[in-house]
Amino acid sequence: MRGDGDTPALLELDGVGKSFGGVAAVADLSFAVPTGSVMGLMGPNGAGKTTVINLITGLLGFDRGHIRFDGAEIGGAAAHRIAARGIARTYQNVRLFSGMTALEQVLAGGFLRRGTSLIASFLGTPASRAARARSLAEARHLLDRVRLAHRADVLAETLSYGEQRRIEIARALGAHPRLLLLDEPTAGMNAAESAAIGGLVHELRDAGLTVLMVEHNVRLVTDFCDHVAVMSFGRKLTEGTPAACLAHPEVQAAYFGRSGDAERIRALR
Ligand SMILES: Nc1ncnc2c1ncn2[C@@H]1O[C@H](COP(=O)(O)OP(=O)(O)O)[C@@H](O)[C@H]1O
Ligand SMILES: [Mg+2]
Repeated sequence: MRGDGDTPALLELDGVGKSFGGVAAVADLSFAVPTGSVMGLMGPNGAGKTTVINLITGLLGFDRGHIRFDGAEIGGAAAHRIAARGIARTYQNVRLFSGMTALEQVLAGGFLRRGTSLIASFLGTPASRAARARSLAEARHLLDRVRLAHRADVLAETLSYGEQRRIEIARALGAHPRLLLLDEPTAGMNAAESAAIGGLVHELRDAGLTVLMVEHNVRLVTDFCDHVAVMSFGRKLTEGTPAACLAHPEVQAAYFGRSGDAERIRALR
């Protein structure tokens, strides 16, 4: 297990609260993501998991509490500043541009980050041609990292759902993050595709990245997460090792309908 014991936290949420029109989507939420670990964020639909990711990335402001990244407060900062500090994400619903190849999807992510360089690249100056060559090489390297180098020139919408999700991860990695937030990265995938995502997440962790992933797949959580926090109705229900969290009676009730249904949860593992 990584990131336990005295490992400093890369990300810390401290008493974070967010309400929408009087309804608390996140309430008094505190947890820490140890540097160099894979942390799972579980909880039933509507528990507030995506909202947590939106709060961390500055897509939404929050009402109370603190969010610290590498020891510095990032609560209230603009999304682009938080991204520049080294936090990247993928979305629960795949967000790719239609009519673009896999390679172009990853390139477009880089151009969006670099602002005007897309226009400059069409002007064809030597400097812009060199910059474009560097961008292309980096995009190919990113596709290779997510095992999609052989699909570089395929239109993204013709790729499998699992491949599309991996393109999103490649695009997020192009921002050179230290913390990667994945919102249900295996939703809609079969067992083999899901396990491949788990393997990729471990490779990224072993290369120095810290990962927080929203995940429902019990097998993926037990096999690939070092640490888990479980949310219910905006609050933290429990936190700890995957085995300890999944053994929690309220987690079993939330996920499997009946509390104390130990037989079924054992079978799933
Ligand atoms: N932008 C928003 N405006 C209003 N309500 C929202 C918004 N985003 C999320 N919510 C509400 O907050 C709660 C938590 O949603 P969400 O974070 O998407 O849960 P999860 O990702 O765990 O399924 C839900 O009740 C949802 O309807
Ligand atoms: Mg969600």
